[in-house]
Amino acid sequence: MSPMPAQTAPQPRPPVVAALTLGCKLNQAETQAAARALQRAGCVTVDRPAEADAWLINTCSVTHAADRKARRLIRLARRLSPDAPVVVTGCYAQHADAALLAELGVDAVVPNAEKASAADAVLRELARAPAAGSAQPAQATAQSTGRTRAFVKIQEGCDDVCAFCIVPSVRGRERAVPINEVVEQVRERVAEGVQEVVLTGTQPGAYGRDRDDGANAARLLEALLSRTDAPRLRYSSIQPQDITPELLACWQDARLCRHFHLALQSGSDDVLRRMRRRYSAAQFLAALDLIRAAAAGAAITTDVIVGFPGESEDDFERTEALCREAAFADMHVFPYSPRPRTSGALLEDDVAPQLKRGRARRLRRLAAEQAERFRAGLVGETAPVLFESFDGERLRGLTDTYVPVAARWAGGAPPLNRLTAVEIIGLTDDGGDAPAALGRAAAP
Ligand code: F3S
Repeated sequence: MSPMPAQTAPQPRPPVVAALTLGCKLNQAETQAAARALQRAGCVTVDRPAEADAWLINTCSVTHAADRKARRLIRLARRLSPDAPVVVTGCYAQHADAALLAELGVDAVVPNAEKASAADAVLRELARAPAAGSAQPAQATAQSTGRTRAFVKIQEGCDDVCAFCIVPSVRGRERAVPINEVVEQVRERVAEGVQEVVLTGTQPGAYGRDRDDGANAARLLEALLSRTDAPRLRYSSIQPQDITPELLACWQDARLCRHFHLALQSGSDDVLRRMRRRYSAAQFLAALDLIRAAAAGAAITTDVIVGFPGESEDDFERTEALCREAAFADMHVFPYSPRPRTSGALLEDDVAPQLKRGRARRLRRLAAEQAERFRAGLVGETAPVLFESFDGERLRGLTDTYVPVAARWAGGAPPLNRLTAVEIIGLTDDGGDAPAALGRAAAP
């Protein structure tokens, strides 16, 4: 009789944690940091809604719509994984009513100030959850994030007091991450194979304002360019008043992406003053001139709020005229709605909803025209593209100017996660609000 095969104990399955982000790039950086900590603790993380052993939802509260999205995602988590613990953090979780969160099925709330320990909260909940009994964290294994792009936090908090913005009240005062720590984090990500590092913060352009060691955004970029081998660095959200020749000199290094996101909000000086912004329309345009002189071909994108209290037809027309002159590569247009705990909420919300909608429509039409014009301007050029996905027919990726590119690929292994020279040969309706650039990738 042949001996019975030795019974091997079933290996514990590593717990699957759905780690999801709503809101800004800063939130993405923080979720990625939590996901890495969970992976180090032996979990598998996914960044899409899926049946999971636990959920970590990093929420946003910048608008009412963001609040609604957060509640919808919590309900979805509950539906997809009825027994899994749901941990929430982020700006919506920070100020939402605790009873409402409990009613939605949230098991634990991590305040923004403790977000760095969000992974610990998930592990604690997993250890408590009965459904996770078969899925204890496995031995810690080094796991690559397998990502093309990593988000690294350089600062958080905001010392400004813009009248429409809830962020300072949910994120607190500015705190910069010391330059050496940012350099270390970027080096780590590059060593893992990441090709593009996005530097994020609540107010990245004001980096270092809270420090007395001379750190500022230019010093930080110089350190990253000279002390890391990051193939691409993205540092895009900057306020017009933080654009200086010293900062722009860093763009002589082609590894810095030529994409600048400067939130205009309004082109009327009266409205800007009431919004408590710290620049005038003329200063905004001067900042664009400086950028274009220092980084030819740069993509400049913006945010605009329409219908802020007291915005007259004349104010709006100034905004529209400025946007035309600015030739943005893209615009995000938001009809104003008051947020609690902002000074704007004390002003009378006196622009009729249909006027706000009409003004938003006008600007969005202009945004679509400008995006198409900017992308059409690339035709005939050869641009380095970082390809992130391949569907068997087309590669998809981004230029440094943040233009989506689709390129047919019929060669051997697709050049994913590699900067590839691409000849832009036209535009294509390949998803998104504006046409993508159609490219021909050079064989590597
Ligand atoms: Fe939203 Fe908070 Fe970022 S309100 S935009 S997640 S700082």
